[in-house]
Amino acid sequence: MKTIIINAGPRKNWNTDLMLKEAQKGAGSAGAETEYIDLYDLDFKGCRSCLACKIKGAERNKCYWKDDLSPVIEKILSADAVIIGSPIYLGEPTAVFRALYERLVFCILSYEGNPYFEGKLNVGLIFTMNAGREFFDETFRPYVSNLENTFRRFFRGKAETVAACLTMQVSDYSRYSMGRFDPEERKLSRQEQFPQDLAAAFELGTGLSRAE
Ligand SMILES: Cc1cc2nc3c(=O)[nH]c(=O)nc-3n(C[C@H](O)[C@H](O)[C@H](O)COP(=O)(O)O)c2cc1C
Repeated sequence: MKTIIINAGPRKNWNTDLMLKEAQKGAGSAGAETEYIDLYDLDFKGCRSCLACKIKGAERNKCYWKDDLSPVIEKILSADAVIIGSPIYLGEPTAVFRALYERLVFCILSYEGNPYFEGKLNVGLIFTMNAGREFFDETFRPYVSNLENTFRRFFRGKAETVAACLTMQVSDYSRYSMGRFDPEERKLSRQEQFPQDLAAAFELGTGLSRAE
């Protein structure tokens, strides 16, 4: 088993990174070989619509655009599981999450029939956000369900999501103009809820990386 962990958030040692590291530990505990990749350290953009992946006779399941993301896509497509984490920015995952999503799905998608990808890839999603659980359940859920359905349909494996809500965005709220947030509520969430979120991330890693 090989599980690739992808950080689509910019901050190291913050919420998304910590959740992903737990997922990585979970995958490791299930016996998977793991690799952690920070997308913000790489130089790439979203799909360029070069359409090289759709040329007649071209090798399939390959993103032909040459930049730092092409080898990452190759690694993902030859792995058994991928776990991608992103903070929520303006109600959606980050721009780099989206760039990866475009290129990963488009290069295996066929305009003629079933997807080119004939393997099986389990997909885990981890999202962290300022908003509370009710935002995730009521407003963001449909977006997440669409992503999960797309991954299930194209990659033929499981697709599951773990969310960490009410995250701590800064360590000292008194230094910032962030009056909308109650520092005590954030602290409490960090102490009591976040450890449970980390445990859920660990379980996600384990569940998606178990040989069946
Ligand atoms: C540009 C930007 C936009 C954000 N937009 C949202 C948002 O729409 N909803 C939300 O709940 N949190 C939003 N946040 C907060 C982050 O999603 C949240 O603090 C997250 O846990 C940060 O992850 P990190 O600690 O791994 O960086 C935003 C943060 C930034 C920097």
